[in-house]
Amino acid sequence: MAGSASFNPFIVLGLVLILFDNAFQTEARAFFVFGDSLVDSGNNNYLATTARADSPPYGIDYPTHRATGRFSNGLNIPDIISEQIGSESTLPYLSPDLRGRRLLVGANFASAGIGILNDTGVQFLNIIRMFRQFEYFHEYQLRVRRLIGAEQTRRLVNEALVLITVGGNDFVNNYYLVPNSARSRQYRLPEYVKFLISEYRKLLLKLYRLGARRVLVTGTGPLGCVPAELAMRGTNGGCSAELQRAAALYNPQLIQMLRGLNNKLGSDVFIAANIQQMHTDFVTDPQAYGFVTSRIACCGQGPNNGLGLCTVLSNLCPNRDLYAFWDAFHPSQKANRLIVQQMMIGSTKYMSPMNLSTMMELDYMS
Ligand SMILES: *[C@@H]1O[C@H](CO)[C@@H](O)[C@H](O)[C@H]1NC(C)=O
Ligand SMILES: *[C@@H]1O[C@H](CO)[C@@H](O)[C@H](O)[C@H]1NC(C)=O
Repeated sequence: MAGSASFNPFIVLGLVLILFDNAFQTEARAFFVFGDSLVDSGNNNYLATTARADSPPYGIDYPTHRATGRFSNGLNIPDIISEQIGSESTLPYLSPDLRGRRLLVGANFASAGIGILNDTGVQFLNIIRMFRQFEYFHEYQLRVRRLIGAEQTRRLVNEALVLITVGGNDFVNNYYLVPNSARSRQYRLPEYVKFLISEYRKLLLKLYRLGARRVLVTGTGPLGCVPAELAMRGTNGGCSAELQRAAALYNPQLIQMLRGLNNKLGSDVFIAANIQQMHTDFVTDPQAYGFVTSRIACCGQGPNNGLGLCTVLSNLCPNRDLYAFWDAFHPSQKANRLIVQQMMIGSTKYMSPMNLSTMMELDYMS
């Protein structure tokens, strides 16, 4: 018997949900991504380079089942972090769709093949090196200023979460790329690691000067245990001792350098993610994480499916979730989920000085 003008709880609930939804959209923090193929979401699709993942079977488990430029069968680490902070995935900076309000979600500047050093990845020709990623970040801020003004832009950048993943290529695609590489003639490994760390430190200070105040910095994985290295230079059927030595030298010094920077800046700007430990967990006991293997790539050919590129002609495993590695170098979507889970809630063994859930709680209160 209710008249048409009476109170309708469903309409009211709907309105409340819309209001809430809008509130969250403006509240979700922006997210910026820098680095290499582990976090590139498709910038290289727009470049003349051989470092690309824009054809099948890449993306086979992505929501669209299309290759997007992500070096994964499905989502990559930035996608899953976006999910966790409650926002949509950041678009590649070179995507023509990144304009208008989409800019406020953040942007992904990463480019497969790059390293800390300018001379890393020269064989891939046209890629976006770190200094150029930072130039784009500056350009991005100028574009956002025209949208929301200088003060709001500064806040958006200061309050954003930033992810930077770089360094692995300085070993595999530079120092160890060919026997007697220029860098290996110039430096012994311990000196090379020190050089990388000091160059990386300069890059991170530059990022700070560009406005970043919460930066998640990932170390390298166990470089010598990826299927490519098992296939190319495994020692007695095990991981490559030389690349394992590189990772073992590099990762602790990275954590130490970040701690030093935080002390200098008087704030926990840089948060170290110990990817080495996370990967080592499933390399040593794959079954405990639901994998049948961490030694054989899902997609590839040759020993361990570790040689050459992943293409339509490669071997392809039927169930990608059972493999820690999607291709010769890159984790599967399933492994990426486990990595991000540790980033969110891991103990100080994995995350220092704190995990992302603690960081978000602190930022929410301040
Ligand atoms: C890398 O190259 C850019 C552009 O040429 C230059 O400005 C920058 O100083 C170089 N970085 C290093 C560490 O040499
Ligand atoms: C990380 O996150 C979990 C769950 O939120 C929390 O209980 C734990 O204390 C955190 N650990 C550190 C070291 O911050």
